[in-house]
This record gives sequence, C-alpha cells and structure tokens, in this order.
Amino acid sequence: MSTARRAIKIAPSLLSADFADIANQIRMVESAGADELHLDSMDGVFVPNFTWGMKIVKDLRKLTHLTFDCHLMIVEPEKHVDAFRDAGADIITFHYEATPHQHRLLRHLRDIGAKAGIAINPGTPVAMLVDLVEEIDRVLVMSVNPGFGGQSFIERALAKVAEVRALLDARNPAGEIEVDGGIGLENVERAVNAGADVLVAGNSVFAADDPPEALREMRRRIDAAQRAAR
Ligand code: DX5
Ligand code: ZN
Repeated sequence: MSTARRAIKIAPSLLSADFADIANQIRMVESAGADELHLDSMDGVFVPNFTWGMKIVKDLRKLTHLTFDCHLMIVEPEKHVDAFRDAGADIITFHYEATPHQHRLLRHLRDIGAKAGIAINPGTPVAMLVDLVEEIDRVLVMSVNPGFGGQSFIERALAKVAEVRALLDARNPAGEIEVDGGIGLENVERAVNAGADVLVAGNSVFAADDPPEALREMRRRIDAAQRAAR
C-alpha cells in the first residue's frame, strides 16, 4: 500500500521508561496517543542485557488495553512463547537468528492466537525471509544491534525496510513492518517513506524533556510525511 494511505502506529518502548513509576508512564504514553506498547524481553544470552519475563508482562496487562507488542530477544523462543501469550502478549516477535525453526514457530504463534512477528538483526539480510513471507504478520527490522536503548540509528535499515515492503506487497500485502532502534523526530519521516508501519520509540519519547509532547510531535511528523506523499 502507498505511504499516504497506511495507518502508521507508534509503539513506545518501555525499556527506556522508569519502572519505579511504570503505571504513570504507561498512562502518559497512552493518553499522548501511543498505539501499542513495545515490551523488550532480554535473556542475557541472545543479547548482553536482561529485562523482564512473563510475570511483568502479566502484571502490566492490568494497567492498559493497549496492544502488547512483545519483542523477544531470547534464545530458544519456542520454549516461552505460550507463556508470553498467556501473560497477555498480542503480537509476539522472535528473532530469526534465535531459532532454526522459524517457519514452525510463525505457524505456532498464529495457532495460539498471537500475531506472528519475526525480527532481523542489522547483519541479517532480508532475503532470509523469502520462504517465510506468507506466515508473517509483522517483520521487525532492527535499526540498531539489539540489547540497549538509546543507540544511534543504522541508516542501512531504511533500504532493508524498502526491500521488506516490496516482498510483502508482492506476497503478503497485509503484513506490517516495524522499525526498532534509534527512531526519533529526525528520522521518522524517512522511516515512513521507506515503508514502515510501526515505529518503536524508546529514548526519543521517555528521555525527552516533555515525553507526551515528543510523542505528539512524532505523530505530527508522521502525518506530514504522509500528506507530502499524497
Ligand atoms: C533494543 C530494543 C528497542 C529499544 C529501542 O534492543 O529492541 O526496542 O528499546 O530503544 P531506542 O528507541 O531508544 O533506540
Ligand atoms: Zn525492541
């Protein structure tokens, strides 16, 4: 679908939020117009950092009706996806690099009623998705190396987004593209023009002086990019 007509979503990443004040932080992004909450689970093995597991996802589920976009940066994701689904994950995205059985896991995610997402690291070519395209609800293109918030955007990701868009348009037009890492006011327009449907924003929202205003400004820039593309 053309850039002008797609509904672009903003998914604030709680990785950059203050967990001591998490209920307020969630309410804040919800009222400022977040479309989803992006929840990064890390296991200290697939990536050199730890975050949270299913218990926290389950507890956070009580705080909001926003879509939970669970990004699993963990090895052997197939062992844990059912528990994340039970905890309240709506979209479950695992890493291509984290399992040899991507096709089976994508099918399983749909079987358990989740949207099936697959993420590719900066070093993984889009071509690896060619035999999986029909099984995917969402492709997450990493625009930083996974593990931490606040890193700088890897420009090459934009070309990858455009490549994924072409693949999806040809064989799975309902499939969405999410861009994750280093997204801020300076590059949202380019991400939208490349074909992104979902923009993850961690530091650019939660570390801003005025987080709700940062989120609203991001929305204005997305709208402007879409108007310009009409
Ligand atoms: C990084 C995570 C991201 C992270 C993005 O591995 O997957 O979701 O929170 O943070 P920013 O937007 O600060 O780059
Ligand atoms: Zn993420």
